Amino acid sequence: MTPLAQTDLVWGAWRARQNQHTREPSGFADLLARCLDLDIDWIDHADIYDDGAVEALHGEALAHLDAEQLKRLHVITKCGVRFPSPGQPGVRTVHYRSDAAYIQQQAEASLKRLGVEQIGLYLLHRPDYLMRADETARALEDLVCAGKVAAYGASNFSIHQLSRLQAASDLPIAAHQIEISVCESSALDDGRLDRAAQASMPLLAWSPLAGGRLFGGSDAFAPVRACLERVQQDMDAGGIDEIALAWLKNLPAHTIPILGTMKPERLERQANAYRQITLDRQDWYALLEAARGAPVP
Ligand SMILES: NC(=O)c1ccc[n+]([C@@H]2O[C@H](COP(=O)([O-])OP(=O)(O)OC[C@H]3O[C@@H](n4cnc5c(N)ncnc54)[C@H](OP(=O)(O)O)[C@@H]3O)[C@@H](O)[C@H]2O)c1
Repeated sequence: MTPLAQTDLVWGAWRARQNQHTREPSGFADLLARCLDLDIDWIDHADIYDDGAVEALHGEALAHLDAEQLKRLHVITKCGVRFPSPGQPGVRTVHYRSDAAYIQQQAEASLKRLGVEQIGLYLLHRPDYLMRADETARALEDLVCAGKVAAYGASNFSIHQLSRLQAASDLPIAAHQIEISVCESSALDDGRLDRAAQASMPLLAWSPLAGGRLFGGSDAFAPVRACLERVQQDMDAGGIDEIALAWLKNLPAHTIPILGTMKPERLERQANAYRQITLDRQDWYALLEAARGAPVP
């Protein structure tokens, strides 16, 4: 059984250092505690978030939690993306890595920064076109055998890339993290949703609210915003965010939104609404059409 089988929501820590409260260990710990109060036990990270500083923030925040809270908390983190930045000396160009030595080194570094003994779910952040699937799968399996990682998965892979990795390993790919939302629904047509449903593999939905762009600024989202507002009024919901998140719940694969807000009240409202609101089929399709700007055939 996948470690995420009982999970309906994850909180994503990517933007933590952009918020004056969560950028401090005590404020970050407050949000972790709020997550646990809301039965959100899984926290999403990546080694590259602020060059490792977000993972380190998590590690420092743990000192503010009690033993019971620490026992419940699980982390997802990722490796594989390299780009020029002060934390990645010698990197001249954006590239991806999936070789064994690199995976081993990055997992060790993440464990240290996060201050945990085990990564609950370890993801390859992006598909490396140069991936030697046998080598990559062995490295991930070795981490599982050593107890450093409970399960592994992928992020932003195509179904063909997933198949190649899966064929190289006896362990199931435990989850696929992709951008999927009412605003970005290509996974419905390119097989990623079907693959997840068929393999009972959870889909972790990154940027479920289009990274905040849904709420203003971009004209591209005006039609879907108008439709979300109409459904929100019909359902007497607290915001269009609630309707956009609920849209994911109708999908026929186990889809888990990664909530990216740094505001505790917003997190609570979104989590509660997500669990309460169910869209009917016609509203679901109306939102899809509004977002795509075209009727379904
Ligand atoms: N695997 C990948 O390649 C990948 C890529 C991107 C992200 N991720 C993961 O996915 C997580 C979630 O992504 P995300 O942060 O883009 O999620 P998101 O929920 O789509 O966007 C979060 C942003 O929207 C804002 N927001 C949320 N609700 C709002 C509302 N009602 N009104 C106005 N603004 C609102 C938040 O601001 P406030 O904080 O002010 O609420 C925040 O800036 C990340 O933390 C990261 O862990 C993974």
